[in-house]
Amino acid sequence: MEQPQILIVDFGSQYTLLIGRSLRELGYRSIILDPKKAEKWLINNKPKAIILSGGSASVYDSGSPRMPKGVFESGAYVLAICYGMQLIAHELGGSVEPHRARKEYGKSMTAFVTQNALFKELQNESVVWASHGDSVTRVPDGFEIIAVPGGDISTPALAGMNLGISAMSNARKKIYCLQFHPEVTHTKEGKIILRNFIEGICGCERDWWPKDLIHEIQSKVKLAVGNRRAIIGFSGGVDSTTLTTMLEPILGKNLLAVAIDTGALREGELDEIRFAAKAAGVRLKIVRAARRFRKAIGNATDAEIKRKRFSRLYGIILDEEAKKFGADFIIQGTLATDLIESSKSGEAAHIKSHHNAIAKFKSQQIHPSRELFKYEIRDLAKILGLPDQIVNRQPFPGPGLNLRVVGIPSTREKMAVVRWADAKVTSILKKHKLMGKISQLVVALLGVPVVGIKGDGRTYKYIIAVRGVVSNDFMTCEGFQIPKKVRAEITSEITKHPEVVHVGFFETNKPPATTEFE
Ligand code: XMP
Repeated sequence: MEQPQILIVDFGSQYTLLIGRSLRELGYRSIILDPKKAEKWLINNKPKAIILSGGSASVYDSGSPRMPKGVFESGAYVLAICYGMQLIAHELGGSVEPHRARKEYGKSMTAFVTQNALFKELQNESVVWASHGDSVTRVPDGFEIIAVPGGDISTPALAGMNLGISAMSNARKKIYCLQFHPEVTHTKEGKIILRNFIEGICGCERDWWPKDLIHEIQSKVKLAVGNRRAIIGFSGGVDSTTLTTMLEPILGKNLLAVAIDTGALREGELDEIRFAAKAAGVRLKIVRAARRFRKAIGNATDAEIKRKRFSRLYGIILDEEAKKFGADFIIQGTLATDLIESSKSGEAAHIKSHHNAIAKFKSQQIHPSRELFKYEIRDLAKILGLPDQIVNRQPFPGPGLNLRVVGIPSTREKMAVVRWADAKVTSILKKHKLMGKISQLVVALLGVPVVGIKGDGRTYKYIIAVRGVVSNDFMTCEGFQIPKKVRAEITSEITKHPEVVHVGFFETNKPPATTEFE
């Protein structure tokens, strides 16, 4: 396969993999490398385009990422995003200053110089997504300002203040810089900006189609595993089922799907796992380990401790199963989001430890879907002909109901309450045809007892939180508003449980919240 035309240099942004995804959506392959690897790669490769990602550092931090040698000498067009733009301004003689008021996060209005090739076909003003602490306040010699803040629609208090320069370019030097993130769906015209850069400015030629992914993943795994044996961690979700469906034809009897009954599954989940394994055409083993997980997680109350204890045992059990099957490899359906948030991708900040991303194994692990996002996996599931029930299946975290008992030990009894509540809320939402509108439903027991009245007496019991989110990739989500009538029905049904006093409906976006409470 030919080398990609586009190099993405990863300066540690939460969104770097989203750049790769956006380019795939436009039909282009890219390679993502940290600055050191990029430097080496540039010695032998001639990309048409180099994209410099954002990052959480400030150019003034000691040890902050530097520009790889060879970027400006490569002859490629450069698009620098957020930290990338600040680094260019800093290195080429412009000024970078801390944001005047505070860090800027969220949507803001930006005005564009639409004559610039980067902003062709754009309206004069549009909403962009920014997330930065420093800003460029003076452009280097030879650069022109091509976008400026045009008001701030999310924090009106900041409107009109000096928010720094939103974009600058130097066409002669082939450099284009954006303070905001075109790769994030909240930047309304982000796709057009990326297309203008890749096609209009750099003249790249389409070299990627969705079905290529299946072939790429199969070849990568075949090359690693050869004729040896592998097990795959199988949850019955769309990620592991799709990956298994791709790998079964190439590994055949050398592949075993292993599902673990952790004691923290939802109602009816084992049946769904069996259904998914059948759809993937794979041999399935279900390991019963509820007691072991209960003991391992113990009385942990802190979310990260629960996650780490869960993950440790998860690793041990998969290693045991690999050994029993004579497998040298453990394959997992880990997606980009899991790795990014667990800070296992480049230098992205740690948000939470996804069990699959942090698990340690004695056997070699392979994460063939590590660069993909949820909706890409769903596309592949569709291409592979998996049933709709799997294609559209909502995600559910591996540590399961342990994370849905919030801030207190996830005992068997408490998990039973949430399991019951989850099944009830799900069935009410299904009845009202709302489940299909929600990307993920989270039903959790909040570990703060509150006073209530049951059967004419005082009770001191719990709150059940109900949260729906809408998202494509789970990097960002919008909170879903359940209609009033349905909320009332859920509240009336769920408060029948003797352990529940209140039902709360949570609809905060991500960020600032995350999908799960833990
Ligand atoms: P957050 O809560 O970070 O979650 O917005 C993003 C998506 O990932 C799921 N999630 C997990 N999935 N193991 C998983 O398999 C985990 O440890 C884990 N933690 C979160 C979450 O349910 C949502 O879909």
